[in-house]
Amino acid sequence: MPAHLSPALVLALALTGCNGKPGDDTAPATPKFPADFMWGTAVAGFQVEAGCPTIAAEDCEDRGSDWYQWVTDPDLIAESANYLSGEPLADAPGHFELYNTDLDNAVALGTNSFRTSIEWSRLFPAAAAEQATSVDDLMQYADPAALAYYNAYFDAIVAHGLTPLVTLNHYTLPLWIHDGKACHEDPDNCTNRGWLDLARIKPAIALYSGFCAQQFGDRVDWWATENEPMAIVLSGYLLPGEDRTNPPGVSRPDLAIPVAFNLAEGHAAMYDAVKSYDTVDADGDGVDSMVGAVPNLVAVQPLDPDNETDVHGAADLDYVYNRVYLNATVYGDFDRDLDGVAEEHRDDVAGRMDYIGVNYYTRITVRGLNVPLFSEYPITDFYPEVLWEEYPDGIADVVNLANSYGLPAVITENGTEPTETSGDTFLRPHLSALLGAMDAGADVRGYFYWSLTDNYEWNHGMSMTFGMYSVDLTTKARTPKPMAAVYTDIITTGEP
Ligand code: FCB
Repeated sequence: MPAHLSPALVLALALTGCNGKPGDDTAPATPKFPADFMWGTAVAGFQVEAGCPTIAAEDCEDRGSDWYQWVTDPDLIAESANYLSGEPLADAPGHFELYNTDLDNAVALGTNSFRTSIEWSRLFPAAAAEQATSVDDLMQYADPAALAYYNAYFDAIVAHGLTPLVTLNHYTLPLWIHDGKACHEDPDNCTNRGWLDLARIKPAIALYSGFCAQQFGDRVDWWATENEPMAIVLSGYLLPGEDRTNPPGVSRPDLAIPVAFNLAEGHAAMYDAVKSYDTVDADGDGVDSMVGAVPNLVAVQPLDPDNETDVHGAADLDYVYNRVYLNATVYGDFDRDLDGVAEEHRDDVAGRMDYIGVNYYTRITVRGLNVPLFSEYPITDFYPEVLWEEYPDGIADVVNLANSYGLPAVITENGTEPTETSGDTFLRPHLSALLGAMDAGADVRGYFYWSLTDNYEWNHGMSMTFGMYSVDLTTKARTPKPMAAVYTDIITTGEP
């Protein structure tokens, strides 16, 4: 017994579990998030830029994208099956002008990172860009004002002490490569066919990605290629519905499945381009670039765990929704006929992933079917009985799923429509489950809450309010919601 400890003190320490010498506390330490964890919020250009208070709308809004067309075209809005709110983009937060305010707010939260996107159509509004033969050649087609804007923008993010994670394609495509209206009306014969036309989109999006890496790679190390490929497939080509419609908003399984694989090939081409052109280690960690895709992974459960058909259906939904794209982009294994077995291996696609960005929102409860949902694909023997359910523990499932590919995960989106209590009912439970997974060994590098401010929620307009900060539609004033203080507390203490 150390001389300076009295027998009474030793007994007291033993009884409280501290039965070693001082400083040799064997009681398990409370797990905390690591000090170098990336804490952030996420936004996407289309959803936040428009609505500038003083900059003219034609400069503030990016009018050259398929999404601009999708939410503003009167014929498309009039079609009820498109579920378009018709809300003017002028209601959006005006981040294009007010980004310094937003970055101040991101810093005030205590975050050290920020996820945003580059809008391809803002940088390259004219169809002539498709004539470019190399990344250097593409420079002549870049809009000088947009290039200046993005340079100032990334400077500001870095000056705020925030590590940028930049999405190269958050859904939107230039109209010259995707005319969503024409393809909505006649997907077989439209001219600018977006993800339906791999021969055109793959080289074009690769050059654009290489250009961004070349121009902004001195400030950006973390890149995300495509946001939610399966949401593009589902809401654009398979089952557009009230929850989400993406252009071209058609219901064509014969087109949807090829689009999923075109997206996988597009990702690989973007990956290679960024790797070649981002040659600067912006954050000094010895790595020039970390490039990943951002699938929206779902937690899946069978409606009745004792019912074999439900269990089977749940496994098939998990395979089709969570794994087919990752198997293609990580392993190069293409299962084009969706029979559960890859029939094609692509070395030119495999291994293009440094991390998996996970958007986690929901658990899906699955009823198994005896007859497939889409007769061409027997593996679609499921029906999503409950599509949107907050399920905090599922965040552990999806990071473990990402890690099972041998790759680190970053939660690139997770969020809800905040209420007075969502700091405690949403944020803490999700982050507890995430920390639990990490404590058990999961490799997770960061967490980005969706979203920093209320924003233009695609077909819904401003009616869905996911922001840590609310936005006054008229004055554009930002006000923190109660959840913001909870996020700050978790970040500061490292404990959810
Ligand atoms: C995701 C999108 C993101 C936002 C959130 C609520 O599907 O990636 O842009 O709309 O949903």
